[in-house]
Amino acid sequence: MTIAGIDLSEMAFWGLPLPDRAAAFATLRAQDRPAFYPEPDVPFTEKGPGFYALVRHADVAEASRHPEVFSSARGATSIADLPPEFNEYFGSMINMDDPRHARLRRIVSRAFSPRLIAKFELDVRRAAAAIVDDLLATGPCDFVQQVAARLPLKIICDMMGIPQDQYDMVLANTSMILAGADPEFATENAEQAVLQILGAGQALADLVTGLAAERAQAAPAASAPAFDAPADLITALATANSDGEQLTSAELASFFILLVVAGNETTRNALSHAVMLFTEFPDQRALFLADLEGRMEGAVDEIVRYASPVIFMRRTLTRDYTLNGQDYRQGDKAVLYYYSANRDETVFADPERFDITRSPNPHVGFGAAGPHFCLGAHLARREITVMLRELLTRVPDITAGEPDRLLSSFVNGIKRLPCQFGG
Ligand code: HEM
Repeated sequence: MTIAGIDLSEMAFWGLPLPDRAAAFATLRAQDRPAFYPEPDVPFTEKGPGFYALVRHADVAEASRHPEVFSSARGATSIADLPPEFNEYFGSMINMDDPRHARLRRIVSRAFSPRLIAKFELDVRRAAAAIVDDLLATGPCDFVQQVAARLPLKIICDMMGIPQDQYDMVLANTSMILAGADPEFATENAEQAVLQILGAGQALADLVTGLAAERAQAAPAASAPAFDAPADLITALATANSDGEQLTSAELASFFILLVVAGNETTRNALSHAVMLFTEFPDQRALFLADLEGRMEGAVDEIVRYASPVIFMRRTLTRDYTLNGQDYRQGDKAVLYYYSANRDETVFADPERFDITRSPNPHVGFGAAGPHFCLGAHLARREITVMLRELLTRVPDITAGEPDRLLSSFVNGIKRLPCQFGG
């Protein structure tokens, strides 16, 4: 693929087969300088100045290490500038810089420590076992609906204390928010599509603020459970911690939207890609099955590297800056393509090869080191581990058919994935 034929701001690019897309990023990485693209058309927004595509591992790592220069506050999850209220409403701390970001992250991060995630380990195992029971009872089916979508949804809803009869509503609304340009979710009419997304956010916000109010009444703040023994995350976040900090109702609503969107779709897609990868690379399946526990950690990280469920995050320059030989001006937009950094041949030998023994594997699938590094990385790793163990122990011959991919420049999504086994 020639450089002139690659346009990252064209939706058609994101519909290309995955190997073509990977080849295009290899071409971009081979250039001396980051390519500059015009901005995609987004309804209700003014067309901005365009963006630089940061496709190399070193560029993504350095930009992430310097949040004071590469700011998230103008929006991390969209290349177009969205209204600030929209960014905060849907993105919470992912679209903020310190000190506001740091305050929110401090309040919520205790709930995501490895020690507290360990408390959910048994829940995760039980949920994964029940999902595989159902899979075996159903037989070959759509892996996304039957398996991949169910585990992350159940775990995040359990952590937040969302009643089971609301799971479908949470799933439908998070899918709507991340569906982007995919015609299956968004209507043809752009204004209508924005209203649909706003409606989905409102529905999630109403759910969580309603539950928080109910729980505040049932358990006054003074007797609220401490983080060491949280009854559920909503109660814990909406009541003061030992430093007297708590989230306001608006902050809680936005954080919940971020959590269910960031926590569901990403892990779901990682699991779907895992089955595709073990189908495409049978030698890696054999290697994995020969020592599931010994190779688990490596397999999980290699799945996240190869799949890169989050394709990019954006930053905006707060001042003029030179990054690896390229000059940027204040106000420039830089888009950090994790998908490409994870294929950088100067860091990963033979990057298109799925290799569960790859070591070291300094992928940036959860973001690169810096203040926004994925809050849920530990939880996601646990979920993927438990599900792979359950699945490959009980259904070791499971294979994937042709995926139905989400049309999105942001999420490497799989909408449907036929799977076969037992014959
Ligand atoms: C395989 C699964 C996952 C992937 C690939 C992934 C990817 C990412 C990436 C790339 C970022 C960096 C954002 C940036 O630098 O601007 C991020 C941030 C974040 N992720 Fe994840 N994520 C995953 C699972 C989860 C889960 C399970 C949760 C929560 C339950 C979660 C919650 C978050 C939050 C809250 C942030 C924002 C952190 C901040 O701004 O300080 N993620 N994730």
